Amino acid sequence: MSRKMVVFFMLLALIVAVNGQTFHFGSCPTPPVQQNFDVGKYLGRWYEIARLPAVFEKGKCNQATYSLLKEGVVKVVNAELLKNGEINSIEGQATVTNSTQPAKLDVTFFKGIADAPYWVISTDYTSYSVVYSCRNVFGLLYVDFAWILARSRTLPDSTVSQLRGDLESHGVSLRGMTLSDQTGCDAMPEGQGQ
Ligand SMILES: *[C@@H]1O[C@H](CO)[C@@H](O)[C@H](O)[C@H]1NC(C)=O
Repeated sequence: MSRKMVVFFMLLALIVAVNGQTFHFGSCPTPPVQQNFDVGKYLGRWYEIARLPAVFEKGKCNQATYSLLKEGVVKVVNAELLKNGEINSIEGQATVTNSTQPAKLDVTFFKGIADAPYWVISTDYTSYSVVYSCRNVFGLLYVDFAWILARSRTLPDSTVSQLRGDLESHGVSLRGMTLSDQTGCDAMPEGQGQ
């Protein structure tokens, strides 16, 4: 690596560290995804139980609602409760890019901004889901996100540690994973609707 490149990566690492993202040297791990993924059964509301740090999440009571727009295209509404009591929500679209791999979606929240992968690693559709998103950066680094989601605002600790362990066994580092605050969420929409 040239000195310029080294400086560039040091700066990148610093920016990334300051933002609290999770980045690593090397290339993205590729954990296996949910077999025979059925997006129809996956629709509806999911609550965030744990996550790797993500700059775009600032509040608490984080939740996602998925609905079908058309075959292979899912509308995504992410919502969270801010400290000032306001609900912050953002809409996006998740698309299956290869129908032979239905558990690997690409999600986009703004036109013109690159898609991010949304891989459903494992789900039973009715209680938990593990989602992984990883992007390679210049073939030298990768930045990743991971979420444990549930159909209710709590999930037993034993389930959370089992799901973490499964993902870690495929080379994903979840050391920075934090539990999400799902208390005092009365202001948030509940149930399976919008
Ligand atoms: C879709 O995935 C299959 C299986 O992994 C692969 O063989 C095929 O090349 C992919 N198709 C496209 C268009 O990427």
